[in-house]
Amino acid sequence: MSVRPVLRMGDVRLLEVAKIVSDKNSSQLHSLLIDLRDTMQALNGAGLAAPQIGVGLRVVIFGVQANPRYPDAEPVPETVLINPVITPLGNEKIEDWEGCLSVPGLTGMVPRYQAIRYQGYDENGGVIDRTVSGFHARVVQHECDHLDGILYPMHILDMRNFGFREEFFPDSSALDE
Ligand code: NI
Repeated sequence: MSVRPVLRMGDVRLLEVAKIVSDKNSSQLHSLLIDLRDTMQALNGAGLAAPQIGVGLRVVIFGVQANPRYPDAEPVPETVLINPVITPLGNEKIEDWEGCLSVPGLTGMVPRYQAIRYQGYDENGGVIDRTVSGFHARVVQHECDHLDGILYPMHILDMRNFGFREEFFPDSSALDE
């Protein structure tokens, strides 16, 4: 329906804990999902969480198609995830670069669990229950953090690994979450 403005870091709404979706069949939820999709596509993002467009509900979307510009980004299925729950599998964390549509132009090195199980509901009320690793696991952890008011810079271990993407990677672009 419409591309919505994405809130940027500093807006206190990004720091709130989002509420559980109680009615997974409402027209409000339906139009939220359309707006999330439209906004993510317009900005070429890898994912987007409802709080990023100012809606404090536990809803995220994500998905990455195979793209020759990002040979290292393995495809992630287009997913709507409502009321997600993440369970880390093991203690291993790996660091990699992330970006965020709410932190435009910047990038940082963030540790994430290497493998997770995530559960939740899709837009038709169907159960989602997946065990994933690597980039897919990273995207899900990043998006679900938004539901708890957490932005990726809060996880950075060494702030020397935080800065403008064009400075770190002059020749490349990347996906934002
Ligand atoms: Ni983000």
